[in-house]
Amino acid sequence: MTTLSGKRILLVVGGGIAAYKCLDLVRRLRERGALVTGVMTKAAAEFVTPLSLGALTGTKVYGELFDRDDEQDVGHIRLARGADLVILAPASATRMGRMAAGIGDDLAGAVLLATRAPVLLAPAMNPAMWTHPATRRSLETLRGDGIRFVGPNRGEMAESGEAGEGRMAEPLEIVAAVERILGSQDGPLAGRHVVVTSGPTHEPIDPVRYIANRSSGRQGHAIAQSLARLGARVTLVSGPVSIPDPVGVETVRVETAREMLRAVEAALPADAAVFVAAVADWRVASDAAHKIKKTGDGPPALALVENPDILRTIGTGPRRPALVVGFAAETRDLLENAKAKLASKGADLIVANDVSGDVMGGSVNTVRLVSSEGVEEWPTSSKEAVADRLALDIARRLGAPLPA
Ligand code: CTP
Repeated sequence: MTTLSGKRILLVVGGGIAAYKCLDLVRRLRERGALVTGVMTKAAAEFVTPLSLGALTGTKVYGELFDRDDEQDVGHIRLARGADLVILAPASATRMGRMAAGIGDDLAGAVLLATRAPVLLAPAMNPAMWTHPATRRSLETLRGDGIRFVGPNRGEMAESGEAGEGRMAEPLEIVAAVERILGSQDGPLAGRHVVVTSGPTHEPIDPVRYIANRSSGRQGHAIAQSLARLGARVTLVSGPVSIPDPVGVETVRVETAREMLRAVEAALPADAAVFVAAVADWRVASDAAHKIKKTGDGPPALALVENPDILRTIGTGPRRPALVVGFAAETRDLLENAKAKLASKGADLIVANDVSGDVMGGSVNTVRLVSSEGVEEWPTSSKEAVADRLALDIARRLGAPLPA
């Protein structure tokens, strides 16, 4: 397993309990042939010692910015420029905010500002901090700057026992993300970026109720995974699902159609976009601030308004990827509807599937590919097999070199 052979990775260890996972991360990266150099923030040294980090990296661990010896030759620039990839783990809400604002007042901050290598962040923080609007703003800004993310995961927090999203990704997940970024010189889709939407959306009615649909996300997630296996950098924008994130794919979790659209727009530019999500067509005009109670006057009247059509917005918009793929979930007049969607939504390709059976949430799928070239029927197969075939088709349409 030398997937990272000779790759120079600069690991910036941030402050936080999850810092201990960095020791295992170093071991896993080195097992794969990477050369790892460690930088520690002041706060990180409260959780792991420079000695233990240095023992695992096998090299000097860098600490504060104004370490005289190393600053003689502008050490932070040298460190930043000598890396093929910079990892910041754990990334706290504060550190993300500082990065988003371009603050480089310590060695870690200066390195993160000075590097031109890809930067991968593994956030770890309390769930309330992760969902705070300020952290959301930092996240969006950093994504816009091209910073990649892995995690955080859902689970119990080490310090408070609180459950929610905020747990740092596991070392092997971080390694998979690194392999994805650095290994993307391989595979027919190497160097290409593809955005995929998946899962349902949830549209709130009141704090406890929502409108949803039966989508499991299995087909969309499988497509994201297949594209990543072909070497693409994949951003998966997923509605609420209970299946695991694909490995080596950057997954952005959203709830509503409007959030999904914003996340897709933030992920652009892309070479291709595949819209698999079963987006709710409507949302409640104004979701109630409090739980709607029975009043004795009969059921409440819910006024619905139309959600943005994400596929159409992107397919006919100014930042349209070269290849746009949509899905058409129909229970009747499949081909007529699919053909109409090609034109009206600005798609190059519509994957039409009949959802009158138990396709939604099920494990197999029967699809037809509708494009200006005509209709191609695919045999019923597993969602993974459909995904593999579609990923190859996308690679071909993007002009990628395919193995014979
Ligand atoms: N889609 C989208 N945003 C929406 C609705 C749909 O991006 N608000 C995308 C889906 O991801 C899919 C395609 O559009 O790729 C078709 O979705 P489908 O539900 O089959 O079509 P609708 O546009 O809802 O059309 P209809 O009302 O005819 O069902």
